[in-house]
Amino acid sequence: MHWPGVIEHYREYLPVTEKTPVVTLLEGNTPLIFARNLSQEFEGKIQVYLKYEGLNPTGSFKDRGMTVAISCALERGAKAIMCASTGNTSASAAAYAAKSRLNCIVLIPEGAIALGKLSQALLHGAKVIAIKGNFDEALNLVKEITSKYPIALVNSLNPDRIEGQKTAAFEICDVLGTSPDYQALPVGNAGNITAYWKGYREYKEKGKTENLPRILGFQAWGAAPLVEGHPIKYPETLATAIRIGNPARGEEALKASEESGGLIEKISDEEIIKAYKILARKEGIFVEPASAISLAGIIKLYKRGYFLKSSTSVVKVVCILTGHGLKDPERAIKESSRPKIIPPTEEAVLEVAGYL
Ligand code: F0G
Repeated sequence: MHWPGVIEHYREYLPVTEKTPVVTLLEGNTPLIFARNLSQEFEGKIQVYLKYEGLNPTGSFKDRGMTVAISCALERGAKAIMCASTGNTSASAAAYAAKSRLNCIVLIPEGAIALGKLSQALLHGAKVIAIKGNFDEALNLVKEITSKYPIALVNSLNPDRIEGQKTAAFEICDVLGTSPDYQALPVGNAGNITAYWKGYREYKEKGKTENLPRILGFQAWGAAPLVEGHPIKYPETLATAIRIGNPARGEEALKASEESGGLIEKISDEEIIKAYKILARKEGIFVEPASAISLAGIIKLYKRGYFLKSSTSVVKVVCILTGHGLKDPERAIKESSRPKIIPPTEEAVLEVAGYL
């Protein structure tokens, strides 16, 4: 089947009309992979599925929201777009702006975005501006500027972003034939958790599914305002994508976890890295650190006996893997041992490979 991108595939659920100029890079339709090896480690009590959003055109889930945000902005006559970003939003905005010939301005926290993401935004021709401040400060500036100038804001405060991103929930239900029992995902600015919850509820209202999943949101230990109950002025974590201290949709994230009977938890950087390596080494899936928090959270809750309280015997858990590992190659290298450098002889190769 030819996949036409999320707007054409889910048109009836999205705020578009016949007149909307659809800008698409054929995002969406990402694989939902059954994690056989991981599921065995949970003693057959959990079936883990991985929604590999890193396989979107710019390597993250942001493309789902961006196709709708950019198409709708164009329809309203926008000439320029702007966002604050920890990296992925800027890469996605820059790519979709290039395709639609919109001027794109992105504000990033200086020195705090992964190399892959920066390279994307730069090469797509966005005006990339680094501020001596963090994401929250960048977002405040973007809100100020876009309220005064004719520039469309494409952060997830823009409702069109949420509309596009909710399609991932539809895809999960379409593949499973039902909603999962639990869905785990990272929470940064809290747009995506809001989008998934909206998507699941809409699918149920339309009679496409009978149930709703419990939503499990995870924040990094040093950047967990929703767990601590107050904004964090200086958020810290190696998962730079979710290094956010004052999430724009924090209230909605709390509502999603409460209404669904799920939770929002904080996870240490060590736990994140452990899950990052497990995904790569046990399932062959390369994600960026922020994405690994979905699995890290499941492992933590499993150890605590959380899933045993569930009524069904085997629970289906979907972990959202939000961004590709190639976004942050420096982290992958930092967490691995460097290749040995040897003379170019058969003997030396076999020795290092453990065959001699
Ligand atoms: N995972 C990745 C890889 C992300 O890039 C982000 C957010 C999240 C999870 C969290 O999603 O913000 O909707 O709760 N990245 C934004 C950015 C902030 O600027 O790229 P959220």
